Amino acid sequence: MNYGPVPELINICRQAAAEACVLLENRNNLLPLTGSDKVALFGRIALNYYRTGTGSGGNVKVSYETNVLDGLKAYPHIKIDEELLDIYKKWIEKNPFDNGNGMWASEPLHQAEMPVDDSVAARSARTCNKALIFIGRTSGEDKDNLDEPGSYRLTSEEKQMIQTVCKHFEHVGVIYNVSNVMDMSWMTESFTYGHIESALICWQGGQEGGNALADVLVGKVNPSGCLPDTVSKSLSSNPADKNHADPIFDLFEEDIYVGYRYYETFKKDQVLYPFGHGLSYTSFEYSDLRMEDYSYDNLKAKARLTVTNTGAVAGAHVVQLYLSPACGLLGRPSVELMGFTKTKVLAPGEKADVTIDADISLFGAYDDGGITGRKSCYVLEAGEYRVFAGKSARDLYEVTNNGVAAFSFDKLEVLETAHEAMAPVRDFMRLKAKATDDGYEMAYEKVPTSTVDLADRINKAIPVELPKPNRRIHMNEVTDGTATVEEFVGQLTQSQLACLARGEGMSNSKVTPGTAAIFGGVSDELMRLGVPAVCCSDGPSGLNMEKSLKATQLPVATALAATFNSQLIYKLYKYLAKEMRYYKVDILLGPGINIHRHPLCGRNFEYYSEDPFLTGVMACAISKGFTEEGVAGAFKHACANSQEKARHTVDEVVSERALREIYLKAFKMAVKIGKIKSIMTSYNKVNGHYTSSNYDLATVIMRDEWGFDGMVMTDWWSRTNNVELGGEKSFTDFRSMVRSQNDVYMVVNNNAAFTNAKGDNIEESVVDGSLTIAELQRNAVNIIRLASSLPCAEREVVVPSAVTFAPSGEKSKKDIAIKDKECYSISDETVVKNVLNIEIEEKGTYMINIGVSSTDWELAQVLSTLFINETRAGDIQTNGTGGKVRELYIVKAALDEGIYSLRVEHVRPRLDLHYLKLIKVEE
Ligand code: BGC
Repeated sequence: MNYGPVPELINICRQAAAEACVLLENRNNLLPLTGSDKVALFGRIALNYYRTGTGSGGNVKVSYETNVLDGLKAYPHIKIDEELLDIYKKWIEKNPFDNGNGMWASEPLHQAEMPVDDSVAARSARTCNKALIFIGRTSGEDKDNLDEPGSYRLTSEEKQMIQTVCKHFEHVGVIYNVSNVMDMSWMTESFTYGHIESALICWQGGQEGGNALADVLVGKVNPSGCLPDTVSKSLSSNPADKNHADPIFDLFEEDIYVGYRYYETFKKDQVLYPFGHGLSYTSFEYSDLRMEDYSYDNLKAKARLTVTNTGAVAGAHVVQLYLSPACGLLGRPSVELMGFTKTKVLAPGEKADVTIDADISLFGAYDDGGITGRKSCYVLEAGEYRVFAGKSARDLYEVTNNGVAAFSFDKLEVLETAHEAMAPVRDFMRLKAKATDDGYEMAYEKVPTSTVDLADRINKAIPVELPKPNRRIHMNEVTDGTATVEEFVGQLTQSQLACLARGEGMSNSKVTPGTAAIFGGVSDELMRLGVPAVCCSDGPSGLNMEKSLKATQLPVATALAATFNSQLIYKLYKYLAKEMRYYKVDILLGPGINIHRHPLCGRNFEYYSEDPFLTGVMACAISKGFTEEGVAGAFKHACANSQEKARHTVDEVVSERALREIYLKAFKMAVKIGKIKSIMTSYNKVNGHYTSSNYDLATVIMRDEWGFDGMVMTDWWSRTNNVELGGEKSFTDFRSMVRSQNDVYMVVNNNAAFTNAKGDNIEESVVDGSLTIAELQRNAVNIIRLASSLPCAEREVVVPSAVTFAPSGEKSKKDIAIKDKECYSISDETVVKNVLNIEIEEKGTYMINIGVSSTDWELAQVLSTLFINETRAGDIQTNGTGGKVRELYIVKAALDEGIYSLRVEHVRPRLDLHYLKLIKVEE
């Protein structure tokens, strides 16, 4: 087996995939399988294990993959119905796994299932005492899951299989190999005859997932995973269901009541399995629960308890800590996860003393309307704040301070003063909890809307231009500390600064093949100053280097959240960081730390949980792993991406409170505690402003409030809109992106940064005064500071060398004589139907640029080829330009004095050619 350049990573992946397994039910100890069992495996997923979801976050080229059968081979004492397996193998040969031809977003969300007839199940039941049924689902980018059979619901073929198996077997277990929570309410329906005794979610466990699942099924690893999401009885009970997937305005009417915050406060009876639930093959009891070690102001304390393994086998246990805050005027959910830890594996009878930090300062409520008298502050209203240790959000044991509530405040505590930012402009009503004598009731209130004049806010904070140093500064001087980043940036020209704001990709030849982008050293000029090309690769669950290089595939994020083991996740990403270093990848495009607002979001598998604290803790653990190895992650997608439907255009309409307490909280923790270095914004708008050009997000909240000093990048080919006014989408308004302090546009085509081949408005905005050099410099400082801290700063920066061509034609054939930087009109007539003979009068190195346009739309791929002296010299590659002329850099050529022939061949939907320009450059 090829375990890749960092073999330890594989073992950690296997451990993580095993610890991620959540045992939902286990009546009659159906699991673990033992030597006296013979087990029948039903469902093709036993052979076609889903190791990941689809899209950019799933695409890792692995050297091998595993399914549960591979895993079970290591446990020969477990007997399997081989005859049944042969039937499946033959059927799969005729009905192979459908990957949608490998096309983007085309893989189906489920696979066709083999019909199981009575004779097959009856024969199997005669020889086996247990049956395990495998149900698989995938999901991915650019496509939401659906409330339909084959996605959230079972297909009729699956139901038929389950019914037939349950008819013949009394002891049946279900294994969910899924990227997302799906409907599980069917398990008690009459067609199962009450025979489903066990249910386990193994999620999508990466390339070692099959082995890890086998470890759990046979009890080598005792399950300790817990649900990072509530499993409800019905999708329609989800408070976001009404608005999810609206293509235009997605109203977050449920406000902060997401997942268990909603169900545990208002709708306990709608829950099938609560957040945090997860059984073990053993049992655990708590004793001696107490709060201790209060620190200054009583805002921090430690919850302590003793956990005893009261069962017959060894196992580890997750202790969760929940805060039950005073409901106050603002209204708060009944419980909020405030801490967790996992014990070591405890032998039967063994005890563990557990301590969990209870840091209530992280749990202020954000007053976005001023009801407490402290608008735009994080507050704790007067009252009792009880703390519970729990085996789930439902199964709770109070941890008191000598018999009284863990925390209590007799007046309003102001934890943090912020600024109104990103507030909605659209009126809508939101849900609010109101305390009653016996619990909570649902109330509604008008969402506070924006009172900020954004243009004024931006204008008042335009930075001061950096002074020009009186010498040329090389980037090495920044890295070795002899010059500051500001001095380095102060020397850059307007066009160099504009270049820095443009990332290039994908598969850029300056870095590891198949990776997603570079930024930094995107032009010869910048490279001559020592700016390296920073290599960015997807992410998040392994390195995606397209078809070129193999890498290790980690379990998906939801699985990692289910481990509730941040130490393990830290270790996992530390070793992934070592693999990044091996492949010369500086930034992983991940992790994804958005919130699971609704089970049908296609990208939930790339995100952790419905809970922001769990997500934030995992983000900090990942950042620690990256930081120790010197690489970084682009923590994405900030923020509020909760649907893939219309992801480039939808406006997520969210209260400021929900943004801060739910959708931005993990980012805030990652910045303030995890000290992350880079953030990727999302595709969507939030309250009318695209996140890629959102000043309140990238400047006011992230930098001014949180103190973020890293770099912000857009998502790939993002839209922007006017930074001051919002409004219509644009593909070229990079001014708004720069002004918002979203530092780098990802991505323009390769070699397109220098000539501004996408035709963005950065430089024209400097000329018309709507953008200042100082703002470009401010972003450049963020970019250079990050680049100088990454492994790329240690790599030699090699300026690409010129391709040499010898003159070939006769002087008499000359059509034009070339002058540096002059434009010569060209057309199909001159360079496609005929050959253009140019004369180079001065020997040197020339950048050959061509002005083109295409009437195709912005994301269409257009391609032609330039030949010099009938030798292929370079591709003329662009997206559709909507008819506008764009200058493309084609090749850097070393040319002697003399005559050269130029010819263009059109390859893919045609370009209109406008001009040819040769620019003499330093070699
Ligand atoms: C995704 C990002 C990803 C990028 C580069 C985009 O489509 O939304 O998450 O990192 O592509 O592949």
